[in-house]
Amino acid sequence: MDSKTSVTLLKDISLRPFNTFGMEVRAKNFTEITTESQMPDLLRLISRYEGPVLFLGGGSNVLFTCNYEGLVVKLSTKGIEIVDQDDEFVFVRGMAGECWDDYVQFCVQRNFGGLENLSLIPGNVGSSPIQNIGAYGVEIKDTFYMLDAVSLRTGEFREFYADECAFGYRSSVFKHELKGHYLILSVTFRLQKHPLLNTSYGAIPAELQAMGEAPTVRSIAQAVANIRRSKLPDPTEIGNAGSFFKNPVVGQTVYNEIKSRYPGLPAYPAENGAKLAAGWLIEQCGWKGYREGDAGVHAKQALVLVNYGKATGNQIYALAVEIIESVKEKFDVLLEPEVNII
Ligand code: FAD
Ligand code: EPU
Repeated sequence: MDSKTSVTLLKDISLRPFNTFGMEVRAKNFTEITTESQMPDLLRLISRYEGPVLFLGGGSNVLFTCNYEGLVVKLSTKGIEIVDQDDEFVFVRGMAGECWDDYVQFCVQRNFGGLENLSLIPGNVGSSPIQNIGAYGVEIKDTFYMLDAVSLRTGEFREFYADECAFGYRSSVFKHELKGHYLILSVTFRLQKHPLLNTSYGAIPAELQAMGEAPTVRSIAQAVANIRRSKLPDPTEIGNAGSFFKNPVVGQTVYNEIKSRYPGLPAYPAENGAKLAAGWLIEQCGWKGYREGDAGVHAKQALVLVNYGKATGNQIYALAVEIIESVKEKFDVLLEPEVNII
């Protein structure tokens, strides 16, 4: 090892504090990056490292099924900065290791519109483009401007603009074609100075009414936070990674066929068909609130698999496979995991 490096390579580190499922697995090697000035040393380390490398933000979208026999790089680079503005828009850059909700609150407090519906999603700014995070009628692609990244193959720094990211539902080029090719360093969003509020998701108007508030950037952010707290488990109390599966998108004919058999099926319009509520499908198969040992299905949201304490990644994975099989058998619909299984 280079004795002058700013990057400390640790050995045999527990990853339990670094994944919201609370999996007790170990990393063969581990390092944490807190400032951008460490990047050259990090890139040098990665280019010489013999073994796989995994970047971690908040660890809120990963399921570890075994120890990681490679290098885990925890990204903790902080900073939020207004980099440009005009009459309509303000461009705000967040460093990859910045907490997503702190970034959203920075925008909300200044009445910059566009991210308020994405309040309280766990994780970091740098991970937000990976699966184009979304909630309550909004996805980051709606306000994403560009990101800075570095190629792990060539060491080349480059910018990605929205049309180069292939954003889709819980998907981007970084989750598929370019998976593992780039380290995202920072992300810049284009926020509205005259906010166009989105209250299309039914639960938001209902919550605003209960709060006695008119829709504003702040009140929507608060309403979304209230709704989320009421149904999603807090990972500091019960291990989980949010929705374990994606909502399946099916063609119109399949949708019509299932809907005729199950008129209560909740679904949303999607390109050439419909997006079905996977939580409902799973609940219909009798899984909601199920528990075997410490692995379970959340009692308030069947799309969320939970670790009550000492479940292993393989136990959670085995439960996920059973759920996939039963939904396939009952509805002939294939669920796909949203969570990155490692
Ligand atoms: P991690 O889990 O650390 O990493 C996710 C993936 O990105 C990994 O493959 C990792 O290697 C890669 N990665 C991370 N950082 C970088 C980087 N800088 N460069 C390159 N690759 C990187 N998601 C939604 O979309 N909507 C929701 O409403 C939502 N609700 C949730 C609620 C709960 C309670 C929980 C626990 C999760 C929820 N999620 C939701 C999932 C999760 O919060 C998001 O996917 C989030 O973006 C993950 O961020 P992270 O920093 O924790 O990523
Ligand atoms: N439903 C059930 N039973 C359940 C869960 C849900 O019948 O156990 C029904 C609800 O009654 C509702 C419908 O399914 O009619 C949709 O439920 P909800 O509004 O809770 O949203 P979701 O489709 O289950 C998605 C995202 C969430 C996001 C919310 C809010 C996916 C995979 N999940 O969940 O994202 O927060 O909408 O927009 O798209 C995540 O990605 O980790 C995540 C939490």
